[in-house]
Amino acid sequence: RHIPVLCIDGPTASGKGTLAAAVAERLGYGLLDSGVLYRATALAATRAGLAISPGNEGAIADLARTLPVRFEGGSIWLGDSDVSEAIRTEEAGMNASSVSALPAVRQALVALQHGFQRLPGLVADGRDMGTVIFPAAPLKVYLTASAACRAERRYKQLISKGISANIDDLRADLEARDARDQSRAVAPLKPAQDALVLDNSLLTIDEAVSQVIAWWQERQ
Ligand code: C5P
Repeated sequence: RHIPVLCIDGPTASGKGTLAAAVAERLGYGLLDSGVLYRATALAATRAGLAISPGNEGAIADLARTLPVRFEGGSIWLGDSDVSEAIRTEEAGMNASSVSALPAVRQALVALQHGFQRLPGLVADGRDMGTVIFPAAPLKVYLTASAACRAERRYKQLISKGISANIDDLRADLEARDARDQSRAVAPLKPAQDALVLDNSLLTIDEAVSQVIAWWQERQ
């Protein structure tokens, strides 16, 4: 049977993760947070003593192809190690962005991502869900928000976890990461031709969820 996939792509800290989780919950669908796979690959490389550079592309792709990543009880595991926190640091995000620019690594993660398709459906969140991984998906949402707004959200998130942060540094970091994601040769971040763009700078989470659910229902 055909498994419906709803893609949500967009830049760093646009709120994709929160939106994708809420939409998946409302629809009773599974969730693929593809950024986790790049973050875990970068961490696996670092832990294996491999610098994240084109010279190690083949070796890192080998790690990615057999990545021992598991989602269990709200935690993310890499082998025997709970990496739920380690993969969420700003540094881990930057390393994920570097690793994700290596074409062999992207290729190595394709089958793993396709394996997330289960009935009754999947919500997939990332940068290339609609353009590369699930090109036949019936709904592709490209979620954006202004850089100022994204930096402020990231700032509040960190502060609420007791982590100190500087909003100007955060904004510079996320703009650097977006520039790299948009300019890479393979699967650059950009809206799919048939994507619907949603700017959530001025929307509450509930409003964004309602919009996406309405679009999804129009397509059933
Ligand atoms: O979404 P998240 O911030 O967790 O992703 C971390 C990094 O992984 C992104 O900056 C991007 O470079 C990369 N990524 C990607 N393709 C995806 C998901 C994430 O290149 N589908």
